[in-house]
Amino acid sequence: MTTTVQPTVEFRNVHTRFGPNHVHRGLNFALQPGEVTTLLGPSGAGKTIILKLIIGLVRQAEGSVKVMGQEVADLDGPDLTALRVSTGMLFQGAALFDSLSVFENIAYGLRERGEKDEDKLNHIVTERLRMVGLPGIESKLPSQLSGGQRKRIGLARALATSPKIMLYDEPTTGLDPTSTRMIDDLIITFAREQKITSLVVTHDIQSARRVSDRWMLLSQGVIAADGPIGEVSENNQLVRDFVSGSWKEAV
Ligand SMILES: Nc1ncnc2c1ncn2[C@@H]1O[C@H](COP(=O)(O)OP(=O)(O)OP(=O)(O)O)[C@@H](O)[C@H]1O
Ligand SMILES: [Mg+2]
Repeated sequence: MTTTVQPTVEFRNVHTRFGPNHVHRGLNFALQPGEVTTLLGPSGAGKTIILKLIIGLVRQAEGSVKVMGQEVADLDGPDLTALRVSTGMLFQGAALFDSLSVFENIAYGLRERGEKDEDKLNHIVTERLRMVGLPGIESKLPSQLSGGQRKRIGLARALATSPKIMLYDEPTTGLDPTSTRMIDDLIITFAREQKITSLVVTHDIQSARRVSDRWMLLSQGVIAADGPIGEVSENNQLVRDFVSGSWKEAV
């Protein structure tokens, strides 16, 4: 008997439009449980929009976006909140609340979910700070932290609600090699230890090689390449051009 595993995320023939701008022109892909996939593609190709479709921040014009078997476009109110709780997103630039302490930034999603038990909040915040290697900085403000530290706080915040899916939007952009390595290692650790299905958008090819086994390339509105790194980086001409910087295609 064969058992089929339900993909964590599944896109079928997804089209996205902003007025005359037809960004996605039939996206098809699936993310399997626990897998780390890197999404590559030129600036403006629609990578961030793919992440926003997964958490229901943007609606497709056509096609189907399913997360854990549920059609995202059909969700509203509490169901959409539940989806966002089970999906952690590290936004481009970390997007912390500048006026809130590190503690309150990390506790934010839990409070939104209705968690009022301060002991529990304390425990979770302490634990997540330990996980990202920044214990004891609960009372600091984001402005007192370096870019790399802010990214790690963004990670701790995304992990606070124990997500099943993590979406990373350019998690290492602007970071020095040591901080980059640290973030890469955290992405790998979370995926392995917590079995978190992860989608990483990055322009950093070295990171893309380190964190994932599978690459997808978004080009001209479709997934133009999809497969194990070794395979697509050697055999796919588009991927080879993209990686080598000899990309000539108009987006
Ligand atoms: N809310 C919006 N309203 C209108 N157009 C939008 C909106 N969000 C994105 N777009 C357009 O959709 C396209 C894809 O944007 P997206 O942010 O997904 O690109 P990206 O691949 O993430 O690029 P980058 O690598 O620069 O971050 C762009 O042409 C952008 O201008
Ligand atoms: Mg983007």
